[in-house]
Amino acid sequence: MTPSSAQPGPEAGAAVKAADRAHVFHSWSAQELIDPPAVAGAEGSYFWDYDGRRFLDFASGLVFTNIGYQHPKVVAAVQEQVGKLATFAPAFAVEARSEAARLIAERTPGDLDKIFFTNGGADAVEHAIRMARLHTGRPKVLSAYRSYHGGTQQAVNVTGDPRRWASDNGSAGVVHFWAPFLYRSRFYAETEEQECERALEHLETTIAFEGPSTIAAIILETIPGTAGIMVPPPGYLAGVRELCDKYGIVFILDEVMAGFGRTGEWFAADLFDVVPDLMTFAKGVNSGYVPLGGVAISQKIAETFGKRVYPGGLTYSGHPLACAAAVATINVMAEEGVVENAARMGADVVGPALRELAERHPSVGEVRGVGMFWALELVRNRETREPLVPYNASGEAGAPMAAFGAAAKARGLWPFINMNRTHVVPPCNASESELKEGLAALDAALSVADEHTV
Ligand SMILES: Cc1ncc(COP(=O)(O)O)c(C=O)c1O
Repeated sequence: MTPSSAQPGPEAGAAVKAADRAHVFHSWSAQELIDPPAVAGAEGSYFWDYDGRRFLDFASGLVFTNIGYQHPKVVAAVQEQVGKLATFAPAFAVEARSEAARLIAERTPGDLDKIFFTNGGADAVEHAIRMARLHTGRPKVLSAYRSYHGGTQQAVNVTGDPRRWASDNGSAGVVHFWAPFLYRSRFYAETEEQECERALEHLETTIAFEGPSTIAAIILETIPGTAGIMVPPPGYLAGVRELCDKYGIVFILDEVMAGFGRTGEWFAADLFDVVPDLMTFAKGVNSGYVPLGGVAISQKIAETFGKRVYPGGLTYSGHPLACAAAVATINVMAEEGVVENAARMGADVVGPALRELAERHPSVGEVRGVGMFWALELVRNRETREPLVPYNASGEAGAPMAAFGAAAKARGLWPFINMNRTHVVPPCNASESELKEGLAALDAALSVADEHTV
């Protein structure tokens, strides 16, 4: 369905908005300073409001609608599951849960063959860290600056962006380090090789000074998502794997955003031929139709909890509706070549178009990404690389990015914006013509960003 005269009009939208403003408390927001748009409907790569404005969603919600909105096969699968068995307790073997676990384990790298289901990404991270601590008997976790791992207490403490600060009481046993990012190198590196080598040296020194026997896990997003889609240089993740093996540390890859087709592979780990000990997932596992996340567990960590109780669980672990949505989503992705589409469109359409935009727009400092997972680093000045807005800017200081965002929306493009970046993260099954439509709107919006360059 697209907006039509049958659609409820502006009055209905106003009522939705009024109840929201009166009663809904929104995430990560100063409640009086926000203006949430009222959504009337969505289909495929588009959503629309009650005033008949339609937007091409280059944010995939919050980077989770990997097969777009309202895919009929997934909607039907959830409807069928509601009719069959709407819910059931986690201690039973349930068809949808068993099948979802089987389909996921079939695709996860290496021996990650056991699946612990959670309700979303943050609780998957919480449980992965708990498993690592119990498996090693060690307390600390190393994680990267420029990362996001979720909003619950432990997950927000391993996060390496300003969302951690308000909840960081310094007692979470987390130590942050710098992962590679050549464009803003912390290592004075000039090549990817130098960046990789120096980032690994920095990590090994951090391990040595923290004391290897105190470190349970290193957690990394395979490709950091919200923090800027920094594709790691060749050899980095393999180097981290080696360090983990050398010091008996559990390697956790967080694929909550990068997994399930986003990078043009089922999992981003496949791009680097690396197998972690634990891998977290959520979002794309069922395109976000019903909340679901999980941890894929290696043989050796599963064995730790073979005869010993795993002290953790959730009432809705592997909820039948969420799992039925996952089964249908994974089958749709396989049948419709969604992963291949992401790889092809990234290589042939999005990547080349973004690089061409960078040539024409002085506000674009760097283009980076893969598949349907791209970031444009917007700068005031290409020579100095000064970001278009300061790190963690708010209010007036963030105005240039707000102006860019407004320009995109005025052209029917819903952008993903974080700090001085816009990410191009459309559904993994978006068509070439949809992508070209969005890229044309992006081109126009970047002209507004250009006005803020010096
Ligand atoms: C890499 C990563 N890990 C964890 C999370 C947290 O997931 P959730 O919001 O489902 O708890 C996110 C959410 O954006 C994420 O991008």
